[in-house]
Amino acid sequence: MAAPTLVMATRNAGKVRELRALLEGLGIELLSLADFPDLPEIPEEGATFAENAGTKAKEVARLTHLPALADDSGLEVAALGGRPGVFSARYAQDRTQPEVPGDADNWRKLLEEMAGMPQEERGARFVCEIVLALPDGRVFKARGECAGYIALEPRGEHGFGYDPVFWVPEFERTMAELGLEVKNRLSHRARALAALREILVSIKDEL
Ligand code: IMP
Repeated sequence: MAAPTLVMATRNAGKVRELRALLEGLGIELLSLADFPDLPEIPEEGATFAENAGTKAKEVARLTHLPALADDSGLEVAALGGRPGVFSARYAQDRTQPEVPGDADNWRKLLEEMAGMPQEERGARFVCEIVLALPDGRVFKARGECAGYIALEPRGEHGFGYDPVFWVPEFERTMAELGLEVKNRLSHRARALAALREILVSIKDEL
């Protein structure tokens, strides 16, 4: 019998690598959107990470007739009512301009907004929602979180996004000061993927 096939609904090569590593050994053939160059871009316009991941996974499953897996992630700061949230990637965007802001623009905006806030009000978490959609309409969800604080200033060179300003209390370092190996043990994405792996193991025979 041929191995079941699953499409990772992303064009991000870094995410494809991470997903491949975490789903290794399941006997599932993994494709990505790079294998479907003609599929249209699916906009992220939802109000929650789960909504964005769900829309993408369901649309890719519908278009490819294969099980599809999509994720959406970002940073939530409690004192800011959960912002930047689903706008994490474009937090510092000037809406009159087409350019997408860089990572440093986004975390600088965050530090400016939080200037003067004491440590106890700087609590934040990274969140990752992963949705697996089957062509028959069934949907499975996995969520991972990583809690910490927004640092007073950036530190570290590893990672991406808000990592330089995300303080991880267990290690007394920012996420960008921790190497990828440590990050991949505690990150929101690693935790969501571990939960997803369990789901895949339980439904593999139905794929
Ligand atoms: P997406 O899941 O690729 O849409 O990511 C949205 C945004 O959330 C990224 O552009 C980053 O700004 C932020 N983000 C998501 N995961 C991480 C992470 O592991 N470290 C730092 N920033 C992250």
